[in-house]
Amino acid sequence: MSDAVQTHSPTLTQSPAWQALQAHCQTLRGQHLRQLFADDPKRGERLALEACGFYFDYSKNRVTAQTLALLIALADSRGLRERIDAMFSGQKINATEQRAVLHTALRAPSDASVMLDGEDVVPQVHAVLEKMEAFTRRIHDGQWRGYTGEPIRNVVNIGIGGSDLGPVMAFEALRHYSRRDMTVRFISNIDGTDFAEATRDLKPEQTLFVVCSKSFKTLETLTNARSARAWLLNKLVDERAVAKHFVAVSTNAKGVAEFGIDTDHMFAMWDWAGGRYSMDSAIGLSTMLAVGDEHFRAMLAGFRAMDEHFRTAPFERNLPVLMGLIALWNNNFLGAETVAVLPYEQYLKRFPAYLQQLTMESNGKHVTLHGAPVDYQTGPIYWGEPGTNGQHSFYQLIHQGTRLIPCDFIGFCQPLNALARHHDLLMANLFAQSEALAFGKTQAEVEAEGTPDWLVPHRLFEGNRPSNTLLAERLTPETLGRLVALYEHSVFTQGAVWQIDSFDQWGVELGKALAERTIPELESPQEPMLRHDSSTNALIRRYRQLKRR
Ligand code: F6P
Repeated sequence: MSDAVQTHSPTLTQSPAWQALQAHCQTLRGQHLRQLFADDPKRGERLALEACGFYFDYSKNRVTAQTLALLIALADSRGLRERIDAMFSGQKINATEQRAVLHTALRAPSDASVMLDGEDVVPQVHAVLEKMEAFTRRIHDGQWRGYTGEPIRNVVNIGIGGSDLGPVMAFEALRHYSRRDMTVRFISNIDGTDFAEATRDLKPEQTLFVVCSKSFKTLETLTNARSARAWLLNKLVDERAVAKHFVAVSTNAKGVAEFGIDTDHMFAMWDWAGGRYSMDSAIGLSTMLAVGDEHFRAMLAGFRAMDEHFRTAPFERNLPVLMGLIALWNNNFLGAETVAVLPYEQYLKRFPAYLQQLTMESNGKHVTLHGAPVDYQTGPIYWGEPGTNGQHSFYQLIHQGTRLIPCDFIGFCQPLNALARHHDLLMANLFAQSEALAFGKTQAEVEAEGTPDWLVPHRLFEGNRPSNTLLAERLTPETLGRLVALYEHSVFTQGAVWQIDSFDQWGVELGKALAERTIPELESPQEPMLRHDSSTNALIRRYRQLKRR
């Protein structure tokens, strides 16, 4: 095992740094944010950081300067700095798959050099970027046309997980910058409804399918891609049409060729970029087709700026490190089980879904890099909806429920669609929510409003509920790149402290294997011999009975 994955003994929870945090947590117990703010009138400015185009306010967390110092000491003691260097320099920190983790190379400038197994990967990255740009221009200029000579007007991305969530999130986030003469759709689910609804009003003659699969083995994607080919040929008949209406993004040239896509029309990716870390690779081809190559390059510049900040800033002024350590504090010391991500920006409506894969596939792990069971919680559950919709739905539980739910509020100072007072009203809601969560409403305040005694407990807001607020000037392609990289590195920071492999995903395998075994049992015309547990057997029998009706 390389130095980069050596554990730092003693074990995490026995380490002096962890125990110091536990002791410190006891001293903070019973302290209310109301008190912390009253004790330090400048707390709101002191516990905030301006970096990389973001204003990050973390003052409404149950932390003090000492908490942060202890968290940073914990990160130091677990070798976070060395882990960051190991990632950026291409060491094989994805230990269980023996792979480097180089998504940062996907946005490295062309004059940089990142060596992996004796080869510089940066020229390969830029060669693919140039191929994507040339292709995008040909589609936009009408030089690349469909088989019957019609221009391409519809782009349909077929992929799942990292080959879908990043592209769809980025398309929605950057829709404001997108070409309105193109229709961009996404098919991920193996549920035929996804395919049917995405294609029902499209003309095959004008439609390009971008089949994204790092492995080119994923059941959902290959099934959807086969249906896409059938849909196309149903209208265009001639097999040669496929070449004009399908391109692929993959590491697996053989699989692409076997499917029938010309490998000249394949955009390469590499095993050192994980699926959930790949929206800035060729997996982002649909994003580039939607917004153009210049906006895509601007997004890459945003990623790069956050990478540089993460790599070089001291931990106490390092945005992803602070965000990661505060999330870890809320999780491991305050016992929070989830994080609500609440963008006050409609264009970020798919951002929580994107973050779910990034955070939970990365840090949902039960053993350390050495295979030892962990005796602490790892990745929390991420979820969320854009404000203000969430306010009229689940915020009740965040304000008055029995669980502690830290929130990440994300807002922008300038709207992309200025409309009367809308933006001020939107942002007033964001600020009001974090204020209400932190400070609540005391019994005295409720009584002073003339509330009858019996109603007072119902109208009380305990407060002391932690939140971060991230503010940026405006949602641009560059800001989006910075935002995504911020969360990528925050996830990394937490995984490094927990000493887990944030870059594998063995937990998805068992379900896939069982589904493979179950498919013939559902499809076979003869009654199959079922050898599952009694529950699964009964479900399969019932399904077979009812589907025949
Ligand atoms: O099943 C999980 C997973 O492997 C994800 O990690 C990945 O993003 C997704 O499937 C899709 O994989 P592929 O791009 O190889 O089709």
